[in-house]
Amino acid sequence: MSPTSPDFSAHSRRPGVPALFVVLLAAAVVSCFLLHRAVEFGISSGASFFPIFDNGEPVYSDSKEYSLERVLKAASMPDNTVILTTLNEAWAAPNSVIDLFLESFRIGERTRWLLNHLVIVSLDQKAFSRCMVVHSHCFSLVTEGVDFSHEAYFMTPDYLKMMWRRIDFLRSVLEMGYNFVFTDADVMWFRDPFPHFHPDADFQIACDHFSGISDDIRNKPNGGFKFVRSNTRSIDFYKFWHASHELYPGLHDQDVLNKIKNDTFITEMGLHLRFLDTTYFGGFCEPSEDMDQVCTMHANCCFGLNSKLHDLRILLEDWKMYLSSPLSSILSGWRVPQNCSLDSLHLVVQHDPTDPTDPTGPDLI
Ligand SMILES: *[C@@H]1O[C@H](CO)[C@@H](O)[C@H](O)[C@H]1NC(C)=O
Ligand SMILES: *[C@@H]1O[C@H](CO)[C@@H](O)[C@H](O)[C@H]1NC(C)=O
Repeated sequence: MSPTSPDFSAHSRRPGVPALFVVLLAAAVVSCFLLHRAVEFGISSGASFFPIFDNGEPVYSDSKEYSLERVLKAASMPDNTVILTTLNEAWAAPNSVIDLFLESFRIGERTRWLLNHLVIVSLDQKAFSRCMVVHSHCFSLVTEGVDFSHEAYFMTPDYLKMMWRRIDFLRSVLEMGYNFVFTDADVMWFRDPFPHFHPDADFQIACDHFSGISDDIRNKPNGGFKFVRSNTRSIDFYKFWHASHELYPGLHDQDVLNKIKNDTFITEMGLHLRFLDTTYFGGFCEPSEDMDQVCTMHANCCFGLNSKLHDLRILLEDWKMYLSSPLSSILSGWRVPQNCSLDSLHLVVQHDPTDPTDPTGPDLI
């Protein structure tokens, strides 16, 4: 059990045959709503609301200019691959997570060009406005009746809604024919990850802890970084994953993935599932040990936005230091995690994590 994925197994059950039927039924229901959702995303009609700036004040208007189809097309690589991240107000503020994220691409080794293929999917108005200032491919994912603008506290109902909304959104991207790398904005990109993806996998995902074997189902995946190829297997898998949350109410997408990753339904659909090595795709849970090989570092196993920012800044400094004198990599290495540690977690759990005024409460992982 990792600190980022509370285990609720005592309250949940593995899907048996009737349960699986329910899942399939739910998947069918989900498909029936696709058209409805397509409209909601502004995919076919541009029905979502986007800001038009009028004298500096955002006003809301129907707009086709920022429809998902257009944004993905503009950002796509020649092979229909895009890089996606999601952003809310708390992470979009100046000197917050998004600035560090974009900086990592600029100071990474040959990673700057990847920014041309990055789409920032904002979950609220402020995040969209900030995206328009700092980046060229912005998409506004509007969810009626839900306010995602504040720091979403880990495992609260809004947090869960946001996570499941994200799964649903990523499925629609696959259905539009795009492969994607999904990256949380607290993943720092230091090298091009593409040479390290498995050529034959439909769905490959980074890990909090890597067992050493890329197809070992016991690996502990982290949904904050994954590469998914668009095909019928991956689309069916996303439908199954989303539908499975009905079976495990109150669970996070990552925990549901842990429940279903060895489901016979997935083996039977023929999905090629691989786990990514922390040597290349590390994090604070299990840092990449070799700065000559690292591609990405994720601020996982970290609670609280301030701790996260503190350690991410040190991470970027360590990288710059390494670049200025590569031979010192063995001596230097990472100085993090510091505030993102299990000790800080013990401090945090004494506070009320559901209280949004509690500055030490857990936030987005
Ligand atoms: C996965 O499922 C297979 C067959 O359904 C089973 O033999 C195996 O032990 C399971 N592995 C894990 C790690 O649960
Ligand atoms: C980081 O940890 C140190 C030592 O525990 C503490 O003094 C400092 O306030 C922390 N900083 C942040 C931003 O949490």
